[in-house]
Amino acid sequence: MATRKAFFVILIALLISILVAVPTRAQSIGVCYGMLGNNLPQPTAVVNLYRSNGIGRMRLYDPNQTALRALRNSNIQLIMDVPRTELQSLASNPSAAANWVQANVVAFWPSVSFRYIAVGNELIPGDAAAQYVLPAMRNVQTALSSAGLQNQIKVSTAVDTGVLGQSFPPSNGAFSAAAQAYLAPILQFLRGNNAPLLVNVYPYFSYADNPSQISLAYALFTAGGVVVQDGQFGYQNLFDAQVDAVYAALEKAGSGSVVVVVSESGWPSAGGFAASVSNAQTYNQNLIRHVGRGTPRRAGRAIEAYLFAMFNENQKSPGVEQNFGLFYPNGQPVYPISL
Ligand SMILES: *[C@@H]1O[C@H](CO)[C@@H](O)[C@H](O)[C@H]1NC(C)=O
Repeated sequence: MATRKAFFVILIALLISILVAVPTRAQSIGVCYGMLGNNLPQPTAVVNLYRSNGIGRMRLYDPNQTALRALRNSNIQLIMDVPRTELQSLASNPSAAANWVQANVVAFWPSVSFRYIAVGNELIPGDAAAQYVLPAMRNVQTALSSAGLQNQIKVSTAVDTGVLGQSFPPSNGAFSAAAQAYLAPILQFLRGNNAPLLVNVYPYFSYADNPSQISLAYALFTAGGVVVQDGQFGYQNLFDAQVDAVYAALEKAGSGSVVVVVSESGWPSAGGFAASVSNAQTYNQNLIRHVGRGTPRRAGRAIEAYLFAMFNENQKSPGVEQNFGLFYPNGQPVYPISL
């Protein structure tokens, strides 16, 4: 009897762990739908490609109306950017923000599942438009609140890891003074609205800039054990180290409660140093496998992450930038990958 009872306990534990584990992983991965190509499929075909590959989340870099129409009733959850060109207007004019939210969000809600509005991408601290990010976030937030959507749709901004003045070891992570000047009030805003910080995380560029100091295995999640021991935390891959450097910086800035969403990550399949189909496949597949586990500093908290990008984009800068796609513009995969 005891053995039989133990068997059922184990069986039930197994079923629960499957039920818990499968949705976490499946829902955590998204793919960025960049459109800087003159040979890309129409948005309806793109949305079908997401669905046939089981990709449940998308990042869209501007409120392209054809894409938004194609996303209706698709169940795909969306990060949508406010493009840089709109920021000054949305920052300085609350009614421009209200109109933008009405035309691009409210008009499609709830048949399009907006998750986050990313007000600007990689503008802090160096871009001339950085000054408009927070005032535009505030005006977009006010407009969403007026529409009663402030609990369903969160307002944030996307930064790159260049906001860090220190990043090694991860526990030393700290924002640069220049970034901190912009981020301090933005983090206060994010805390107040229970919104995440969106961060583009590219181990590829760190590795390519510094291959004598960083091993390829550490960058590709294939190291056999701990590569960087940082106090109580052991790092087997550079991705975790970069995300945790951001968490350490958030903690030092009094914002340890702000969650990091990885709004871009990827590896190029061609066009430059260490850019190969094999490395891209290894990085992206291992990232997909990995995100459910969290980082050492946030163990067990599944990381919401978006692969960059859906397609190779021929209107980006020549070289690696044109070769981050999971798919060619004709819809054929660049390499097999299980999403
Ligand atoms: C929307 O996206 C499609 C497909 O990429 C493109 O052809 C179209 O020009 C875009 N529309 C706008 C207004 O940018």
